[in-house]
Amino acid sequence: MRIVLLGAPGAGKGTQCKRIVEKYGLVHLSSGDILRRHRAKGTELGKKAQAYMDSGALVPDEIMVEMMADEIKKAPKAGFVLDGFPRTVEQAGELDKALASNGQKIDIVLNLKVDDNVVAQRMTGRRSCPKCGAVYHIENLKPKVEGICDNDGIELVQRTDDGLEVMANRLKTYHLQTEPVVDYYRDSSAVYDIDANKDADETTALVFEKLDALVKVLNEIQN
Ligand code: AP5
Repeated sequence: MRIVLLGAPGAGKGTQCKRIVEKYGLVHLSSGDILRRHRAKGTELGKKAQAYMDSGALVPDEIMVEMMADEIKKAPKAGFVLDGFPRTVEQAGELDKALASNGQKIDIVLNLKVDDNVVAQRMTGRRSCPKCGAVYHIENLKPKVEGICDNDGIELVQRTDDGLEVMANRLKTYHLQTEPVVDYYRDSSAVYDIDANKDADETTALVFEKLDALVKVLNEIQN
């Protein structure tokens, strides 16, 4: 299965992707996480991306397309779920071309729809583990011990781009540059809007419903 998860910053893409990969045995390709790993390692790519990320702007398309094409090539046969990529119509076009050159295509696009005020509450309350990357929320998805990661006992941190000013820029960038990607896919792929204002478990149930139906269709085609 080749899945694209779209949605505003803080819509819950990462949260849902972790549950998807657990259930369907896919690999989770989060462009934001990959960029943050580059930054943590101090690579050239990480250095180039830093200023864009810290201001809430998008990293240039050519950097992102090359980085994600490398990751997709390494993905297992079972498939992948893309989180945070593509984020512009240009990136979506390049992704389609790269997949088509291998006789592949995106099977399904899930568009997590959330209101801007919900996004603000989610981003300002998000805390994550600097070691394993687990994501929590100070009110919605609390760790067992306040401020501490359930998996490895490490102190949770707030992402540097979750402050109010950068958050507003990220949201603006999303409406301007990423929302058109949904329409791009409506012309060529199965696109489903998911009401992601609901709590994480209710949202997961809606996501799984669509993916279970896809698995059924793909199995029927194979048999
Ligand atoms: P990236 O890391 O991709 O950030 P994002 O898309 O802005 O998404 P987030 O990670 O902020 O949110 P999410 O939707 O995954 O939500 P989460 O599950 O954490 O990108 C960062 C930067 O990198 C960009 O600004 C850009 O500069 C650059 N970049 C990345 N990809 C790029 C690309 N393709 N092109 C160019 N530049 C690129 O949930 C949020 C919070 O809410 C958590 O605390 C969670 O616990 C909680 N929560 C989740 N779901 C629910 C729910 N249903 N109910 C209640 N709480 C919930």
